[in-house]
Amino acid sequence: MERLKGRKAIVTGSAQGLGEAILQRLAKEGADAVGWDINIEKMTETAKRIAEQTGRKIFAEKVDITDAEMVRNAVDKAVELLGGLDLMVCNAGILISGDSISFDISAWRKVIDIDLVGYFICAREAIRVMLPNKYGTVIQINSKSGKKGSFKNSAYAAAKFGGIGVTQSLALEFAEHGIRVNAICPGNLLDSPLWTESLFKQYAKNQGITEEEVRKKYIDQVPMKRPCRYEDVCNVVVFLASDESNYMTGQAINVTGGQEMR
Ligand SMILES: NC(=O)c1ccc[n+]([C@@H]2O[C@H](COP(=O)([O-])OP(=O)(O)OC[C@H]3O[C@@H](n4cnc5c(N)ncnc54)[C@H](O)[C@@H]3O)[C@@H](O)[C@H]2O)c1
Repeated sequence: MERLKGRKAIVTGSAQGLGEAILQRLAKEGADAVGWDINIEKMTETAKRIAEQTGRKIFAEKVDITDAEMVRNAVDKAVELLGGLDLMVCNAGILISGDSISFDISAWRKVIDIDLVGYFICAREAIRVMLPNKYGTVIQINSKSGKKGSFKNSAYAAAKFGGIGVTQSLALEFAEHGIRVNAICPGNLLDSPLWTESLFKQYAKNQGITEEEVRKKYIDQVPMKRPCRYEDVCNVVVFLASDESNYMTGQAINVTGGQEMR
């Protein structure tokens, strides 16, 4: 069933990982889209593959979400390529963890710049072009770390908590203009590249345990006793992108197998 037939979307950070899965799901649901990433080689491959699989128009653009002018131009280009814009999925993000006493401040600022300021830049530029139609939806991919502090992960939690403030404030500002702004707070996607290529190593080092012990520790914290899967998040993206969620704005929805309930 194509629940998003004819929708026009941007997905940031969609060369790989969760963003790629979201781009693929939107295409399967009948949307055309532009995928943005700083890694243009990978983004181009991903967009081509999804276009071939689904028959949708899927474009790739090199965009750094922290560059306000680049984002503004890329939104205008997406409107030209797609013939409009009604969905912006703000997924691009990074995680740098570390002990707070020795945390390098430039790394701490970088996390805030990408995960918080970058989100605001992308959301407001998308809303700018949605306003004349009085119709559009912004979805931020947040995290359970946006609801509860995260061990040796102060920069990421600060950016994600802040992201919920941005989501709620934009939702208030544009509710009467037909624009909805919501966030999704996934649990740990333990099979994603973020974990397999980086976090297992970072956490094993920071916590003085093995990578296998890190995996077990994070699964044990989930009432449903399994990691979050891309599909779990994509199901909620489709719901929030569709008119089925018409009366919802300013929400931050947990997709955590019961790990976060507030
Ligand atoms: N993986 C998890 O367990 C998990 C859990 C909860 C929330 N999240 C959130 O999901 C989102 C995606 O995470 P992921 O695990 O797929 O990460 P990932 O690192 O696999 O993918 C992120 C993508 O964003 C791109 N990117 C980074 N900086 C960028 C920038 N300045 N401009 C444009 N693109 C940029 C990267 O090149 C990469 O392709 C993030 O917002 C993350 O915080 C992830």
